[in-house]
Amino acid sequence: MTMKTVLWTKYGSPDGLIPGEKEIPEPGDRDILIKIAAASVSAGDCEFRRLELPLGLSFPMRLYAGWRKPERLQVLGQEFAGEVVATGKDVSNYKPGDPVFGTTGMGFGAYSEYIRLPSEPGDAQGILSIKPDNLTFEEAAVLPTAGMEAIHYLRKASLAEGQNVLIIGAGGSIGTLVLQLAKSRGASVTAVDSPDKLKMLRQLGADLVIDYNLEDYTQRDERFDLIIDVVGRKSVLKKMRLLKKQGNYFLAYAGIKDLFLSLFFKLFTGKRLRIESAGQSREEMDELTELAAGGVLKPQIDRVFPLDKAAEAHRYAESGSKKGNIVLKVAD
Ligand SMILES: NC(=O)c1ccc[n+]([C@@H]2O[C@H](COP(=O)([O-])OP(=O)(O)OC[C@H]3O[C@@H](n4cnc5c(N)ncnc54)[C@H](OP(=O)(O)O)[C@@H]3O)[C@@H](O)[C@H]2O)c1
Repeated sequence: MTMKTVLWTKYGSPDGLIPGEKEIPEPGDRDILIKIAAASVSAGDCEFRRLELPLGLSFPMRLYAGWRKPERLQVLGQEFAGEVVATGKDVSNYKPGDPVFGTTGMGFGAYSEYIRLPSEPGDAQGILSIKPDNLTFEEAAVLPTAGMEAIHYLRKASLAEGQNVLIIGAGGSIGTLVLQLAKSRGASVTAVDSPDKLKMLRQLGADLVIDYNLEDYTQRDERFDLIIDVVGRKSVLKKMRLLKKQGNYFLAYAGIKDLFLSLFFKLFTGKRLRIESAGQSREEMDELTELAAGGVLKPQIDRVFPLDKAAEAHRYAESGSKKGNIVLKVAD
């Protein structure tokens, strides 16, 4: 039996994402088979597709996925929501009919009608939970990675009531969730992004919104307890001056030189430039599921594309117009 999928045929442009067919995988004794309802198209997916990865990871990724083209990883997609349709004989934690959401880990493959995953994934094999009832499949599909990232940052910074947070790139996947989480903890939030995202950021509770095209916010007098910068790439030094002494600055997309910068700040100032990511731990996924079920985190969906329009979805994700998240609808 075959399923519809989107084949990842080359590194670079979205044109290499081509609708196709593959065999539906058979679950092994400890696996589950999930019928995917929705998958996310994240900034991370686009970076893998282009093979433009942080911290010099493009080279190991080529070794892993294929040197000239991604021949060992034929299907992109790292996050999904769907329904369990079959389980192996040794699986006891899921049963057919369970609505689930999660990540695929380094196996990718969420741009497909079905995915086979271990019922108890190990490191880099992704993570899975039962989908909260109050989330649609589309909402649940875009939540796991950015949500765990948001939880990780705020937990590591021990964000307390009354502290102030600056989010640079607040209108994207991570930013919109960090904003909601920081507000739920009683923090004051300044959100920076492009103009068409500012209304959404105000609605999500931002105390102050800044259009980065209009204002050089690095010249502001205010100093922050926590800075979440999902843009990075340049002028991290200039932005570090906005951090209070003993404050934490998390950089979601870092280059090699940022590692040296981080060491410099650690040795010579009280400020911390932190380059780290959520480990996709059971604990963080459980906290995320609970926060979403409690209505604290509500994923923001901009557009939904059908599975066979994955290339178009990638183009839109990279257009600079995306507010929150993009979804591939795989099934009803
Ligand atoms: N999503 C995850 O789970 C995850 C996990 C770990 C690491 N990361 C990394 O974190 C980065 C961001 O992830 P994301 O998913 O949140 O990306 P995203 O959804 O694309 O959001 C990035 C936001 O930053 C805005 N932006 C661009 N340039 C800016 C500037 N100079 N100043 C302020 N805002 C600016 C973008 O808006 P405009 O384009 O309109 O300017 C966009 O709204 C990616 O590189 C990703 O690899 C992501």
